[in-house]
Amino acid sequence: MKKKLLSILLTGILPVLLQAQDQPAPTPQWRPVYHFTPAKNWTNDPNGLIYLNGVYHLYYQHNPYENKWGHMSWGHATSKDLLHWEHLPIAIPEKEEKDTTTWIFSGSAVLDEQNTSNFGKNAIVAIYTADQPKQQKESQFIAYSTDGGLTYTNYPGNPVIDIHRPDFRDPSVIWLEEQHKWLMTVAVPEARKVQFYTSSNLKEWELLSEFGNQGDIRKIWECPSLTPIFVDGDPAKKKWLLMVSSGNQDAATGMQYFVGDFDGKTFKNDNPADKQLFVDYGRTFYAAIPYNNLPDNRQTMLGWLMPFETGTYPWRGQMSIPRDLLLKSTPKGIRLYQQPSEVLYASLDKLPAANKLLKKNITISKELTLGTAKSFNTNTNWIDATFTPGTAQSFGFKVAQDKNGNEVTVGYDIQRNELFIREKGKGDTISLPVRSSDKVRLQILFDKSSLEVFVNGGETVFTTLLFPEKEATGLAVFAEGGNVQLDSLKVWNLSK
Ligand code: FRU
Repeated sequence: MKKKLLSILLTGILPVLLQAQDQPAPTPQWRPVYHFTPAKNWTNDPNGLIYLNGVYHLYYQHNPYENKWGHMSWGHATSKDLLHWEHLPIAIPEKEEKDTTTWIFSGSAVLDEQNTSNFGKNAIVAIYTADQPKQQKESQFIAYSTDGGLTYTNYPGNPVIDIHRPDFRDPSVIWLEEQHKWLMTVAVPEARKVQFYTSSNLKEWELLSEFGNQGDIRKIWECPSLTPIFVDGDPAKKKWLLMVSSGNQDAATGMQYFVGDFDGKTFKNDNPADKQLFVDYGRTFYAAIPYNNLPDNRQTMLGWLMPFETGTYPWRGQMSIPRDLLLKSTPKGIRLYQQPSEVLYASLDKLPAANKLLKKNITISKELTLGTAKSFNTNTNWIDATFTPGTAQSFGFKVAQDKNGNEVTVGYDIQRNELFIREKGKGDTISLPVRSSDKVRLQILFDKSSLEVFVNGGETVFTTLLFPEKEATGLAVFAEGGNVQLDSLKVWNLSK
């Protein structure tokens, strides 16, 4: 009898109790609504972003078993409107063999319309880094899918590129129409450089050139991508955007970019080698890559919002909002601008009237609560406002307000031409310089625990993570030291 009781305890209830003790408290108040999170467990980089037949595929670095980094596999989700995501089974799992563990690190996916790889017409080919920790080796593998991206078969001839290094990762592959060839951009992290390879069949790759040791070289280089973009939307002015993630944990910014020319072989930086240009001025935005196969020369990227100290449960890590990539001429040269994807704006337009708050031409001279229409007190708001500066020294919005005066201010200081973000009672104020202009446009996307701010059409972008208390949901517009004209205000509540 005693034995039986012991066995019930050991196999039945005891492990459950022990596990329950280990588990952190769930944090549904911080689960974003319109930013992607895995149903449970860890995520980092977006992988294999590809648009197929009206569907946006998102693969992502995923630990299927735990809420921390490890067992790296490609998770999978899809969306039709970039607002709602459907979870799908793991697309490429880690592989355990006798002497080798293969983790599926970051990479990309292409549609092989012309069957260059001989895996079948319209096969989707994933190009990823096989990380083999026991061998301390990273090399490039390919795998193909003939069921629309749900499952992948590894190519028996892997690796397709091996330079015998422990750090060689994150291949980003695109199709070069002019050359009629594939182009891979891949990082050699410790060397702070990227390499460009070309192939006609995705299996045999030839090294073209290298680019590196320019811009910000304080940290290793990861997750590169090279993307053609028409400057100011003009097809006669094509430039190439080279993005690199080079933050890693304690750096203040995660991603940098270079603008230049690519002649099919070499990338030539437009700017002096020591010029540093950053994609996003928050340290959380990382490992972003563009979508492949989008129509109309659109270029849209997704990034990972890297979680730091504060834990969320039962998931950890989220994606940024999909952002359109634009290159614009400015007095200082060609610069990257980012906008929340136009596809998202089309989805916002379809929301019911009750989810929208619209105001025009009002003068703001103090703090004005926007949350009184109760439905806007949800911490899942999307604000798009244009101001004409008046006598006020600063103006903007306050989010996550509570009864005790806690709040986060996203403001604009008109004398200094600075965007500032201040979390009351916590840390320093962050200030970022913005070019002066007659009007100031603020797009503020606050989704439970992530805050993305786009100033003046995405000239300056700042992303951070916030973890407000459950009841801290107040929302207000403000002006300080005078008044400001709010030309137009749109707020969408995306909580349902
Ligand atoms: C970037 C990164 C990539 C790597 C992946 C592993 O966050 O370090 O370089 O492929 O994460 O999960």
